[in-house]
Amino acid sequence: MPRIEKAGKTGFCFGVKRAIEIVEKTARERGRIETLGAVVHNQQVLHGLEQLGVSMVKDYADIKGNAIVTSSHGVSPELEASLLARNLEIVSTTCHNVSRAQTAAQKLAEAGFFVIVFGDANHPEVKGILGWAKGKGLATTNENEITAINPLPRKLGILSQTTEVPSHFAEFVKKIIDLALTKNSEINIIDTICHDLRERQVTALELAHRADLMLVVGGKSSANTNRIAELCAKVTETHLIETANDIKPEWLKGKQHIGVTSGASTAEETVEEVMKRLEKMT
Ligand code: F3S
Repeated sequence: MPRIEKAGKTGFCFGVKRAIEIVEKTARERGRIETLGAVVHNQQVLHGLEQLGVSMVKDYADIKGNAIVTSSHGVSPELEASLLARNLEIVSTTCHNVSRAQTAAQKLAEAGFFVIVFGDANHPEVKGILGWAKGKGLATTNENEITAINPLPRKLGILSQTTEVPSHFAEFVKKIIDLALTKNSEINIIDTICHDLRERQVTALELAHRADLMLVVGGKSSANTNRIAELCAKVTETHLIETANDIKPEWLKGKQHIGVTSGASTAEETVEEVMKRLEKMT
């Protein structure tokens, strides 16, 4: 029988836990409440919130009520202003780590730095952070996009999406320094990677090195879950699953050591269900 081992850090991070608590409390007090986009990227969590009367709108033009919950990924000042202009009450669930990155972007832009956000330009968190740079920046994971800027601003501020892998951010920063550090240039680097995720990535990777199969439990659209799965896949066979039902019997054939970890928006109960199903299947 193979050994089944859970990584040292699984279940909700403090930011997701706090966001869910705020939404649950608001829904209980008001009966119904709308959220602008997904509060967290996890289908099971969103289904649970739906039962409490929480509904999601994709665009602020679709908001029907007089209050709106914004996601843990944060929003740009422009979006915030548009919501306030409609006299909507904003219930923010922005994670403190994301707020830190937003403030860093704002301060850099105000100090005349061109803000580079290392991350996925299409992710709501990154769009929000860039919004705080008031158009004085861009988001990318490709250093060539920076060198293509002509002329390259003399003052560059670099920060990261909270869910990025620290070593990838460090490599990106090194490349930018090599490409952009010339006479009179100034580069300001701010580490905005989430501490919880750093720890989660380290414990997942440590287990992946010992296991011959890793199951990463989390939403397929969750940036942090995908980063963890990508890291583990470099070391051993890895599958990203949303629930215990996604486990395929053929993955388990001949395996001696199965590791289980999760993204930051995955409930501990979902991880436990995966552990139980694995025990039954093996
Ligand atoms: Fe916040 Fe980190 Fe969780 S940024 S939402 S504590 S993954």
